[in-house]
Amino acid sequence: MDQQAITAAYRRYAPVYDILFGPVFEPGRRRLVQALNCRPGEEVLEVGVGTGLSLRHYPRYARVTGIDLSPHMLARASLQVQRHDLRNVALMAMDVQRLSFPDASFDKVSALYVASVVPDPAVMMQELERVCRPGGEVVVVNHFTRSNGFASHIERSLAPLARSLGFRPLFPLDAFIGLTHLELTETTPVNAFGYWTLLRFRSRA
Ligand SMILES: C[S@@+](CC[C@H](N)C(=O)[O-])C[C@H]1O[C@@H](n2cnc3c(N)ncnc32)[C@H](O)[C@@H]1O
Repeated sequence: MDQQAITAAYRRYAPVYDILFGPVFEPGRRRLVQALNCRPGEEVLEVGVGTGLSLRHYPRYARVTGIDLSPHMLARASLQVQRHDLRNVALMAMDVQRLSFPDASFDKVSALYVASVVPDPAVMMQELERVCRPGGEVVVVNHFTRSNGFASHIERSLAPLARSLGFRPLFPLDAFIGLTHLELTETTPVNAFGYWTLLRFRSRA
């Protein structure tokens, strides 16, 4: 995966993303916002915000900053913000691997279905840890590879198509968890068949 392949893939996805990936990923979005348990005035960063399908789930008393690499996905997210009058939300074009925010800027950080898309998930996790305040939380929802079964067979056959698909079909959980110094406090299956996983991490104080 590289930046050019990602922006090309998500330029293609943007007009149809909500139809293809709206309802199917929705339980994970709701579960993640629930897990964040935002309190009044908290600053939340959502990386890879895409077309902004999660934004209306955040309580209005939390201040949410959504960033994404793809201008086409962000344009759709702006429409969500307008449609739902989300005055607590700010959107910015930014690479999660080079966040322009100072250290410890956010109380909570969320990453929905983006970890297996970014070129370097280790750098992404370093950046999430850096901008999260000590004692704050980082919550990730993603699909992780199965070691066997029919799904694993499909994932392996799709692996060579990662650049055009816009995500890595092969993305093992243990390797991902090993990329970060954050403390893992929860692992919960989400979405249909529990095929995706919610990971909650605490930033060490
Ligand atoms: C599968 S979509 C997920 C969108 C949304 N979070 C959702 O719940 O449907 C992945 C998103 O990550 C974005 N993305 C990929 N690489 C990125 C990067 N390096 N920095 C910021 N956003 C990135 C893509 O542009 C795309 O909008």
